[in-house]
Amino acid sequence: AEDIANDIREVLLPEERIRQRIAELAREIEQDYGDDEPLLVGVLKGAVMVVSDLARELRIPVTMDWMAVSSYGSGTESTGVVRILKDLDTDLSGRRVLIVEDIIDSGLTLSWLKANLESRGPASVEICALLRKPERLVSDVPVRYVGFDVPNEFVIGYGLDYDEKYRHLRDIAVMQPHAYGASCHCGSADDAATPATH
Ligand code: PRP
Ligand code: MN
Ligand code: MG
Repeated sequence: AEDIANDIREVLLPEERIRQRIAELAREIEQDYGDDEPLLVGVLKGAVMVVSDLARELRIPVTMDWMAVSSYGSGTESTGVVRILKDLDTDLSGRRVLIVEDIIDSGLTLSWLKANLESRGPASVEICALLRKPERLVSDVPVRYVGFDVPNEFVIGYGLDYDEKYRHLRDIAVMQPHAYGASCHCGSADDAATPATH
């Protein structure tokens, strides 16, 4: 049987620390939005856990909607050219939109998404990302709420996947290189040493 413990090098952020940080972010968001009900836009699939925990932590009314996007281009790295696979059902006119992401890696997906949503006449568009990889940021998209800055390592759990696996883990963990190295034929040797998060 598959042994998840064998694939994990270390727990980076245990469940309780994630919970505490999301509570802190929720207090900031409550202050900033007050009675202006935010529309939380979750980016499928990675953001599912963050959206569901953040929404339940917030003591102000919120609504939720979801988008699925896909980067064009070969390999596993973002290219910045994005295709919408599932669009919002919600009309954004006059709404205060809060995009919620599990991780900002290059920032290219969010940079495109923020501009796309801003073109739909909302009152505001801000970004909340649980994790950010400062070493990998290419786009300087402004992120209003950041949970944790993390090193450039392959992180999984709490929504984050490797090949669709591990999203269900309660903690955020760093993967053992052997768990992905052998099956990664997607880039150069250097890419294999520092793979993208997705
Ligand atoms: C991952 C992650 C972010 C995005 C970040 O999603 O959840 O959405 O990549 O990358 P970027 O900052 O370089 O653009 P992925 O495309 O793997 O889809 P998933 O959420 O379904 O796992
Ligand atoms: Mn994602
Ligand atoms: Mg992914």
